Amino acid sequence: MQKQENLAQKLAEAQLGGGEARIEKQHQKGKLTARERVHLLLDPESFEEIGALVTHRTHDFDMQKQVFYGDGVVTGHGTIGGRLVYVFAQDFTVFGGSLSETHAEKICKLMDMAVKTGAPLIGLNDSGGARIQEGVRSLGGYADIFYRNVQASGVIPQLSAIMGPCAGGAVYSPAMTDFTIMVENTSYMFVTGPNVVKTVTNEEVSSEELGGASTHSTKSGVTHLTAANDVDCLNKLKTLLSYLPQNSEELPPSLPYPLGTEIREELEGLVPESANQPYDMRSVIAGIIDGGSFFEVHENYADNIVVGFARLAGKVIGIVANQPMSLAGVLDVESSKKAARFTRTCDCFNVPLLVLVDVPGFLPGTDQEWSGIITNGAKLLYALSEATVPRITVITRKAYGGAYDVMNSKHIGADFNFAWPTAEIAVMGAKGASEIIFRREIQAADDPAAKLAEKEADYADKFANPYRAAQRGFIDEVILPRETRRKLIRGFASLEGKKVEQPKRKHGNIPL
Ligand code: HXC
Repeated sequence: MQKQENLAQKLAEAQLGGGEARIEKQHQKGKLTARERVHLLLDPESFEEIGALVTHRTHDFDMQKQVFYGDGVVTGHGTIGGRLVYVFAQDFTVFGGSLSETHAEKICKLMDMAVKTGAPLIGLNDSGGARIQEGVRSLGGYADIFYRNVQASGVIPQLSAIMGPCAGGAVYSPAMTDFTIMVENTSYMFVTGPNVVKTVTNEEVSSEELGGASTHSTKSGVTHLTAANDVDCLNKLKTLLSYLPQNSEELPPSLPYPLGTEIREELEGLVPESANQPYDMRSVIAGIIDGGSFFEVHENYADNIVVGFARLAGKVIGIVANQPMSLAGVLDVESSKKAARFTRTCDCFNVPLLVLVDVPGFLPGTDQEWSGIITNGAKLLYALSEATVPRITVITRKAYGGAYDVMNSKHIGADFNFAWPTAEIAVMGAKGASEIIFRREIQAADDPAAKLAEKEADYADKFANPYRAAQRGFIDEVILPRETRRKLIRGFASLEGKKVEQPKRKHGNIPL
């Protein structure tokens, strides 16, 4: 009996983490505790904790006098929507959630279990970084985690929530996972904090400005998603997971869907008459997918391209779409990187890709060239070319120049390529093309402006349409906007058995 009481007492102590006063402090900052987070994330009563009685082994700095069960991280498994997940939640109430050797061992054990059983790993990060009292042992612990992040990459989904500090080398574990979400105002990520920044560069910057959720969702793209608070963050993780399979050998979960006519009149008239007038590609997406199913990723970063998950007749798809509302939907360094990363994520996890095209080309200029638009544009070209999931393209309007090739053209392995009658598939726009190829004729004309207009109209008539491409079979079918959803449902259904043999090699060499 006494032995059972001992156990009960230890477990009760473990539940309290660093103690009530520190829990209170956590709440005052607007943050939940590690255990509250885990319980909100998982299905009720599903959490099975592993390692609740682990303690650190340090004697330096009198650390043996401060021992907390669990050692600053709650680890275990449970279910979300009935599906198995492994989860760790750093407990800021214990030494600021800092990572000791044993804390790292607990996370590594969990990662190994997640890979062995083929289940997603979710990390709820809230930590002051390496446990200072443990020196190099905690650095080694981080590296043990990093190594496992890489081994697990593309095998199981790895999701990182940043729900407090995340500084120094600690940022590299989330950076190597598939998705990062940050809580606004209570989380930050940076390699070096404001004090070091001030010393080295003399810049004055707050933690929030340097590495808060808003900075990383708009400027750096380090975070894919942001959340208003802890509860919102946990809910978004659950939603994100609903679009992902358990591992790379499975398909994402589908929902039952009774097929109807699948004609969507609202898609008609979305593309303006004038080629230069913007429209919102999100309206096209909304018109195609199952109502309200779009889960956008990187929403506030590189908004000239839109990426995210959706459902089509109950099945998960990934969407990559040029956005004419921003920079006319041009491809630049940031949008190429964003789309390439999303494409590869979909490809690892068997999510079929829908690519919606309205692209005037690559953004010209010294800024882009010097920032490496060549290498970065190549990332998207490479990522789409190597993707073996079912891939369908719909060209709504412009598909010009190299960007036509890059945006999931037939030539780089797309399975079905559709175009709306409004599509313009050409080396460049009618005006630019006419100015180049008819330059002498225009200069020699009595009325050069009228000549240019005439040549422009002639060129537009010949090339600003989808029919040349359709004649060559580069476009499989010119379809009416209203029938797009139906075509896509049938197209993806026909591709369900798609199998691609890969050439034998160690791995490709994507231009990073
Ligand atoms: C040990 C730590 C700790 C750490 C915080 N604590 N960080 N203990 N190692 N790294 C302890 C504090 O001593 C304190 O203990 C408790 O956690 C809460 O910390 P506070 O400072 O009171 O909290 P707050 O004011 O919210 O500030 C949070 C903080 C700050 C900004 C994270 O604690 C901080 O700057 N910590 C140090 C961060 C850091 O430099 N870490 C090393 C980074 S280098 P008590 O007992 O008072 O409650 C690194 C390398 C990783 O991580 C490399 C990987 C390759």
